[in-house]
Amino acid sequence: MNDVFEYRDDELVGDGTPLSKIAASHPTPFYVYVPRALVSRFRKLDAAFAGTPHFHAVALKANTQPALLRHLVNEGAGAEVVSGAELALALALGFEPSKIVFSGVGKTERELRAGVTANVAMLLVESEQELRMLDAVAARAGRRASVALRLNPDIDAGTHRHIATGIKTAKFGVDPEQARALYAAHREFPALDFVGVHSHIGSQITALEPLAANARILAEWVRSLRDIGIELRYVDIGGGVGIRYHGERAPSFVAYAESVIAPFADLDVTVVTEPGRILFGPVGAFVVRILYVKRVHGRDFVVVDAGLSDFLRPALYGAYHRIVPLRRKRGAARTVDVVGAVCESSDVFARDCTLVAPEPGDFLAILDTGAYGFVMSSNYNLRARPAELVIEDGRSRVVRNAETEEDLVARELAGGG
Ligand code: LLP
Repeated sequence: MNDVFEYRDDELVGDGTPLSKIAASHPTPFYVYVPRALVSRFRKLDAAFAGTPHFHAVALKANTQPALLRHLVNEGAGAEVVSGAELALALALGFEPSKIVFSGVGKTERELRAGVTANVAMLLVESEQELRMLDAVAARAGRRASVALRLNPDIDAGTHRHIATGIKTAKFGVDPEQARALYAAHREFPALDFVGVHSHIGSQITALEPLAANARILAEWVRSLRDIGIELRYVDIGGGVGIRYHGERAPSFVAYAESVIAPFADLDVTVVTEPGRILFGPVGAFVVRILYVKRVHGRDFVVVDAGLSDFLRPALYGAYHRIVPLRRKRGAARTVDVVGAVCESSDVFARDCTLVAPEPGDFLAILDTGAYGFVMSSNYNLRARPAELVIEDGRSRVVRNAETEEDLVARELAGGG
């Protein structure tokens, strides 16, 4: 199916285990992941960069499930974190501070202090004011902080406007002119070491050219900063590599690596990447159950026991995810809209989806939901967030319990309102 989940004798299996077996003993909806596939993807990515000094700072925002992240720690991965809590989680899981980069356009003073105290590889700074605040925070703590400025290089990555970050109108980064002035003024920031330069231009980028262009621009920065006496150690090229959700031609790990490494060949810098989706996306599926099948004004709807509160990508970005049955049926194929239970018209998982004889009680898997799946879930409509499971050694294991109605009600009442 997507090389992690596939059919065997009409049963959708993950790492050899039929998902219908899991669904028979665990209530839906739930996310299920295959850690072995994650490790294999990480190793392929890492191998593609062999020969170039590098580390991969995995974007925790794509998936914060410890049962997955622990494997990446064991593989020697670093972490890209975007909040104080992501930083604390990364440290608790044993990611090495020397391979942690702390990004984010709105880091608070407290978060900056946490990054300085943890001695992370780099704080990725997005404004002059943040730079000044960081300098003051580090000086007060009697420490030095390593920084890279995040550039906004104005590259159109050809992706959805909600996830394009390197274009002029995006809020991210510092424009090149200002960045140049700030690097040139590095002596005004006595507690800061300017060790790198960073640019992440967007997400779900399926063409290599924008990623390669970003790398070329960053290599130019290394050279021009060298000319003014600043020797950078790190070049952080961000993440953003797309996957194949449906028919896209996503780049291979090797093709990606080749196109972004080349500009740094003679520069003696460590290349940092921030992969999220490319690692986690395909290794997760979101399993739901059909509640009702109905026809409204001649249109067929399959209503499932989950909603945009559990999985937001289709509603937020119009994202396409394949939806397939856990058990293949024989019979007449129907074209249906698979919709969620939340009170929003945008709560549609897929329009015009082909399903064979869908009936209440059937289980479906929404594929490629390992990245930006559970992490973007919410309690909207006061709905409990789903469980997360992993398949390991031929068995499934719950690694996060679903919330219960009681949990949610108790939490509402606990505020004393
Ligand atoms: N580094 C930075 C600074 C980022 O902002 C991001 C993602 C990444 C790395 C990882 O990007 P990736 O390799 O996963 O493309 N929720 C959206 C995606 C938002 C991405 C935000 N930043 C979605 O579901 O498509």
